[in-house]
Amino acid sequence: MDVRIVGNYAELSSAAADIVMATVAQKPDCVLTLPSGGTPLGMYEKLVEAYNCGRVDFSKVTLFDLDTYAFLEDSDPRSNYSYLTGHFTGKVNVNPARWFRLDGAGQNAQARAARYEQEILSAGGLDLAVIGIGHNGHIAYNEPGSSFSSRTRLVELAGTTKSANSRWVSTPGDVPAWGLTMGIATIMSARRILLLASGEGKANIVARAIKGQVSEDVPATALRNHENSCFLLDEKAASAL
Ligand code: PGA
Repeated sequence: MDVRIVGNYAELSSAAADIVMATVAQKPDCVLTLPSGGTPLGMYEKLVEAYNCGRVDFSKVTLFDLDTYAFLEDSDPRSNYSYLTGHFTGKVNVNPARWFRLDGAGQNAQARAARYEQEILSAGGLDLAVIGIGHNGHIAYNEPGSSFSSRTRLVELAGTTKSANSRWVSTPGDVPAWGLTMGIATIMSARRILLLASGEGKANIVARAIKGQVSEDVPATALRNHENSCFLLDEKAASAL
């Protein structure tokens, strides 16, 4: 596991976008999973900018959802589909036929999760997983206590996650209680993992993830057991290291 510290959020966004683009340049038909949330917004801006300048071609890329709220329609503004189409896939040339989605599973969320692992394997496995970290150390929606051997599944969201995500909805009660998420073992199966963290608010959990005991209590500590994982941090997120 590596730690890379850059000066600020803009640099973090550029560095993350550069890693995604280098992956695509090296293997145009690579398999990616990409995060939602506030942190990656700058990375998506950079990727869209690069696409508009003809510097990257996503047409052969296969994309897997990292996580999503369960039981939402695609058209719901809270859905992962709305997020990704709004910030990324709707603005670049990702082939919809190569986008494997956890969204839109309706009431069959559990069945969808079970098939998902097979789809990742059939696609040749993940080349790059870009992920965030929650204030409680979650990765994707793998909340504290999630098994390191967990696979894609339906999960109940932690209170801290719901309160962090309430900033995206008009009333706090609108944050869904359930999510569908790649498991920790699913993420760890990626050939490369890039974790993004920005801002002072993440400093303590980043320090625990990097220096604390490797434990299912802090799901992000799993990355320490991955030979090609990197915590990409801005100075503020790195300030408690
Ligand atoms: P954030 O979310 O980027 O909005 O902080 C990260 C996460 O919860 O994984």
